[in-house]
Amino acid sequence: MITIRVPLDGRSYDVFVGHGARSELSAMLPSTARRVAVVTQSGIPLEVDPGLPFECFEIGHGEEHKTLHTVETLCRGFASIGLTRNDVVVSVGGGMVSDVAGFAAASWHRGVAVVHVSTTLLGMVDAAIGGKTGVNLPVAGVDGLDKLGGKNLIGAYWQPSGVICDLDALATLPPRELRCGRGEMAKYHFLTGDDLLTMSEAERIARCVQIKADIVADDERESGRRALLNYGHTLAHALETETGHSLAHGEAVAIGLVYAAHLAHRLGRISRERVQRHYDVVRGIYELATDLPEGISRERLVHLMGFDKKVLGDGLTFVLDGPSGVEVVAGVSAADAFAALREMPA
Ligand code: GLY
Repeated sequence: MITIRVPLDGRSYDVFVGHGARSELSAMLPSTARRVAVVTQSGIPLEVDPGLPFECFEIGHGEEHKTLHTVETLCRGFASIGLTRNDVVVSVGGGMVSDVAGFAAASWHRGVAVVHVSTTLLGMVDAAIGGKTGVNLPVAGVDGLDKLGGKNLIGAYWQPSGVICDLDALATLPPRELRCGRGEMAKYHFLTGDDLLTMSEAERIARCVQIKADIVADDERESGRRALLNYGHTLAHALETETGHSLAHGEAVAIGLVYAAHLAHRLGRISRERVQRHYDVVRGIYELATDLPEGISRERLVHLMGFDKKVLGDGLTFVLDGPSGVEVVAGVSAADAFAALREMPA
């Protein structure tokens, strides 16, 4: 078992990575807890035993269930079992489950403890770590709110009391789910230069957790460095929306990473060789597709990227590679964003 500490003053917590790590769950629960609300989804391949009386609550699959209505249903469930502020919510699943359960925990009694048991690669290396929780709020007709499906518009920073990454769950994941996790891993490759795929599975996941833990410890509320975790994500969010989520998050991030390289090259920030390096890593090493989906409208993608939550001031905002490494770049023109998209095969 590998343990990574997320150091956050009085709210520090451990992340356990390893096969069978779920056996540590009961030890991770707050000593005040007398009962547990387990939030999960149908088909999650991991059973947990919190060692206390517990009730399971299932949420639906898909972005359309990532709503305030689901949070309300969960909170009504918490009420039905008499979950107090001394008790604990345990999420068991991927990023959607930890986002929704985390937000319900942040809201119930103005905040009860939550422990995430992550069962997907993407959840382990990203979503379960760092305390971002939330749900979507598409707002029809309000520019900037409906365009990207209102993704994670309502949420809270609510750090878990602990995170368990049980590698047993990965053996059951469909190849597509694993691909999605590799998309986020490729992102870490560019943030650090680490050759993650030369490591064992456990070391690789632990290293991603460590990278994220360091960034979150430095900038919990994304006033600076944490934004770098959005490398490749500006185009990715637009692609997810424009394809109606037929392109999954990690797949979209893979395309978003090579797009960010094309754009950085266009803006004179990196060489043509460095763009090629993005292809070599994302396509060659991480074995992810990098072409734009056939028939997609580049104009629509630029339009959608203009509604990204991270836009700062005029123009578009991206996280881009450059002479000092990856950094936030504001004020990018739509013309440059479009021209970089045209360099990408579809
Ligand atoms: N997934 C990006 C972050 O946690 O900041």
